[in-house]
Amino acid sequence: MSCLNSEQPAEGGEMLPDLAMVYSDEDSLEHVKMFQMSTKTLWLWLLLVFLLLTYYKGTNKSSNSSMLPCGGLLTQHKWERLNLNISRQTHLFLEMKDFFWHKHLSNQTLPYGIKGNELLLLKIISKVQINYVPDNIENLRCRTCVVVGNGFSIKNTSLGSAIDKHHVVIRLNDSPVRGYEEDVGGKTTMRLFYPESATYNPNLQNNPDTLMVLVPFKQEDLHWLKAIVYKEKIVSKGFWKHPPLKWLGDISKIRVLDPHYLHQTADRLLHIPLHSNNRKPVHPTTGILAVFVALNYCDVVHIAGFGYPSSKNQNHRIHYFGYDTIKSMKNSYHDVQHEADALKRLEDLGAIVFLHPHT
Ligand SMILES: *[C@@H]1O[C@H](CO)[C@@H](O)[C@H](O)[C@H]1NC(C)=O
Ligand SMILES: *[C@@H]1O[C@H](CO)[C@@H](O)[C@H](O)[C@H]1NC(C)=O
Ligand SMILES: *[C@@H]1O[C@H](CO)[C@@H](O)[C@H](O)[C@H]1NC(C)=O
Repeated sequence: MSCLNSEQPAEGGEMLPDLAMVYSDEDSLEHVKMFQMSTKTLWLWLLLVFLLLTYYKGTNKSSNSSMLPCGGLLTQHKWERLNLNISRQTHLFLEMKDFFWHKHLSNQTLPYGIKGNELLLLKIISKVQINYVPDNIENLRCRTCVVVGNGFSIKNTSLGSAIDKHHVVIRLNDSPVRGYEEDVGGKTTMRLFYPESATYNPNLQNNPDTLMVLVPFKQEDLHWLKAIVYKEKIVSKGFWKHPPLKWLGDISKIRVLDPHYLHQTADRLLHIPLHSNNRKPVHPTTGILAVFVALNYCDVVHIAGFGYPSSKNQNHRIHYFGYDTIKSMKNSYHDVQHEADALKRLEDLGAIVFLHPHT
């Protein structure tokens, strides 16, 4: 009997010929078996190719500024190449639960740990309530990030639209965007700041959903933030520059950066002494801190507006806005040459990419 018998349709009314039954002699049957086997293998291969293609399509779709596949293992390998001897962390902000785990009850005091300020932080964070990055960013398989520094070098680069294409745009301190969009873009996903670099009305230079990320350097910074979230009177003593005494931002967008990041930036990336007794303390800038945060959080890290003018002219402006000069940086708590060297190292390792030519 043949399955090709048109009077005996297979179950379900389908008339699929069973190839094995078409041939009668043994040799052909062997052939057919092999043929069936190779179709099976072929299908498996096709399935594999299909899966790979969809994977690459997926990763490419989310990395619009880089055509390289990214995410997962690739990021892990890149991280390991940095050789910082620390595990990567993608949990950026302090959360309520951090205070109930031993891990966070660190032995470090501010700015490198929360020792002695646990209760103050708990009060702030319980008031803000939501303490994470929104899901649409958190759930990306391949996060592209750009850290926009405040350096003069970003002037006339026309990088604005390229910057805005990143999933995460990190800005620093009081840097403006309005009127500078052509070069610096207009989108801000996160802004790292401290009270002295805060602006009284953050709505002017940020988006409604910009996360305002406080980097706490000293206890006064936390008192300042607590006064804001509880609408108490701000005490402005203990700051090296007057912080705003009113803050018109959205309280629910406030986040507190885990001091872990500043600690590791200083200790592992820059190798600066954490506690110097007789000299003025040297702390990382928010710029290099933001780069370190991005290396942890993102799969692709681009930077722009970093570096200081090489000019010998002490009156050369250092920012793309305002009138601060090289001279005005002299007394800062930062070691800019050291940070420039660290950035160069990261660039050489392929961990970060500058978006514009730089010195
Ligand atoms: C890595 O860090 C640990 C402490 O966190 C230290 O004991 C160890 O010596 C470090 N290893 C290298 C290779 O630096
Ligand atoms: C903090 O210090 C205590 C006592 O010196 C020590 O037992 C503990 O392991 C330290 N914790 C961390 C996280 O280093
Ligand atoms: C930027 O371009 C403007 C207009 O072309 C020019 O006047 C200015 O000098 C340029 N600035 C820099 C830093 O190149």
